[in-house]
Amino acid sequence: MTDWNEHVERVLLSESEIKKTVQALARRIEEDYREKENIVLVGILKGSVTFLSDLMRELKLPAQIDFMRVSSYGDATTSSGNVNIILDINRKNLPAENLLIVEDIVDSGRTLKYLVTYLLNKGAKSVKTVTLLDKPERREVNFTPEYVGKRIENHFVIGYGLDYGEKYRNLPYVGVIKPEFI
Ligand code: IMP
Ligand code: MG
Repeated sequence: MTDWNEHVERVLLSESEIKKTVQALARRIEEDYREKENIVLVGILKGSVTFLSDLMRELKLPAQIDFMRVSSYGDATTSSGNVNIILDINRKNLPAENLLIVEDIVDSGRTLKYLVTYLLNKGAKSVKTVTLLDKPERREVNFTPEYVGKRIENHFVIGYGLDYGEKYRNLPYVGVIKPEFI
């Protein structure tokens, strides 16, 4: 049987490091959102599912959850630059809601830059972004997430929701994929 652990060159964020990173992010978000009503965590499918499920349980705030799905990557490791919304949110009370987009990783920045503008235009009261990982060297557009778990160098990473060609999402840690599997 294939063992995906053997496709990992090295671990970038272990399970315990992820836990500490999520806790630190939650404390910062709680501080900033303490006075806000109607908080909605908007997970970007599929990569954010593990991060969202850990973050939502760590946050001591009354937050709803919702999901969007976008496509821009396909099976490749580089962005096409186009963002297509495949699944949108459909919320009745958007003008009263403070959205926090939850993303696994920011690379070119195109996905989140597009989504922030899109959701503000759709009428949300506020839109901010939290990402577990950020690769600032790779930025192609001017975009800075409000909350970043960890900045990493320009490696293609897998696990904890992150995929390569839809594989590896259920590895419990974040690792660098061995070049021979790309
Ligand atoms: P951006 O629009 O270029 O910032 O792309 C962000 C999206 O690209 C993320 O939601 C991921 O789906 C994907 N992505 C970027 N870098 C990686 C990586 O190292 N591993 C897995 N997915 C990645
Ligand atoms: Mg992806």
